Amino acid sequence: MDVQSIAVVGAGTMGRGIAYAAVAGGFRTLLTDVSEEILAQAQTYIRESLQGAKQRGKWDGDPDQAVAALTLTPRLEEAAAADLVIEAVPEDIRLKVETFGKLDRVARPDCIFASNTSSLSISEISAATMRGPRFLGMHFFNPVPKMKLVELVYTAETAEETLAAAEAVARKMGKQTVRVKESPGFATSRINALIGNEAFRMLEEGIATAEDIDKAVKLGLNHPMGPFEMADLVGLDVRLGVLEYLHRTLGERFKPTRTHIEHVQAGRLGRKVGRGIYDYKKK
Ligand SMILES: NC(=O)c1ccc[n+]([C@@H]2O[C@H](COP(=O)([O-])OP(=O)(O)OC[C@H]3O[C@@H](n4cnc5c(N)ncnc54)[C@H](O)[C@@H]3O)[C@@H](O)[C@H]2O)c1
Repeated sequence: MDVQSIAVVGAGTMGRGIAYAAVAGGFRTLLTDVSEEILAQAQTYIRESLQGAKQRGKWDGDPDQAVAALTLTPRLEEAAAADLVIEAVPEDIRLKVETFGKLDRVARPDCIFASNTSSLSISEISAATMRGPRFLGMHFFNPVPKMKLVELVYTAETAEETLAAAEAVARKMGKQTVRVKESPGFATSRINALIGNEAFRMLEEGIATAEDIDKAVKLGLNHPMGPFEMADLVGLDVRLGVLEYLHRTLGERFKPTRTHIEHVQAGRLGRKVGRGIYDYKKK
C-alpha cells in the first residue's frame, strides 16, 4: 500500500516526535491523545521543531501551514480513516491491547497498524486485532527528530508488503530502517541493556570508576555516550524493568546487578530526578 495519511495515537514524548516526522515527511497527519492539554503542548512542539528544521535548512515547507494541516483530536475513532496508525500510548500491554482493539473495529480493513513499544510483544498486541498480516512494530528513538533509525519488528504473520510500506514511510520521514524478527528487546534494547549491565558488573568488580568506563567506551569504541550516561538518560528504573524482562525471557546474562537495584531503591533514578550514577545537581 502507498501510505498517504498517518494517525499517531498518544501525543507524549514519542507521539509528538513521530507526528513531527510525519508532517515533515509530507504525510496528512492526525494526532490523538486523551488529554487536550497534551495535544496543545504537542502542537507547539511540532511547530517549533518545524521552524527549527527550516532555519537549519533541513526542511523547506511553511511551518504554520503544515501545523494548520495537522489534525489534533481527543477522539480516537478519527484515527480510523488513516492508511497507517502508529500507536505511542504508555508502555502497558492492557492499554495497548484495548487501544488497538477499539481501532480494529473502526479502521479500514487495509489500514496498517504499528506499535512503537520498546519492549512488549508485538505478537501479543497484534492478537488483539484481526489484522495480523498488517501489523508490525515501528520502534522510533528519542528524540525522534534527531534519531535516524526506525526498527521494524515483524511477527510470524506480518506480510512482506506491510514491511515494505513501513520502509517507504520511514524513508519519507528521513529515517533508516532495520528489519528485526520479534524477540525480547528487539535488536537495540537487547544490545543496550547488555552493555549497560556489563558496565555495572565492572563497577562492582572494581575494574574502573564509572567515569573511566564511560570515557573508555566513548573514546576507545567511539560510542557517543558512555553506558552509565546512557542508563542515567533512560532512567535506572526503566532500565531495571527492561533487564528484569530480558532476564526472564533470555536468561542469566541479563540478571540485574545489586548495585543497579540499590540505586533504584535509593531513588537514584537518573537525570530525570537529578541523580543516578552521576549527580547532576552539582553540575
Ligand atoms: N520515551 C522513550 O524514550 C521511548 C523510546 C522508544 C519507544 N518508547 C515507547 O513509546 C511509547 C510511548 O512512550 P512515551 O515516552 O511517549 O510516553 P508518554 O507518557 O510521554 O506519552 C504517552 C501519551 O499517551 C497518552 N495516552 C494515554 N492513554 C491514551 C489513550 N488511551 N489514547 C490516546 N492517548 C493516550 C498520554 O496522555 C500521553 O500523552 C511507549 O510504548 C514507550 O515504551 C518510548
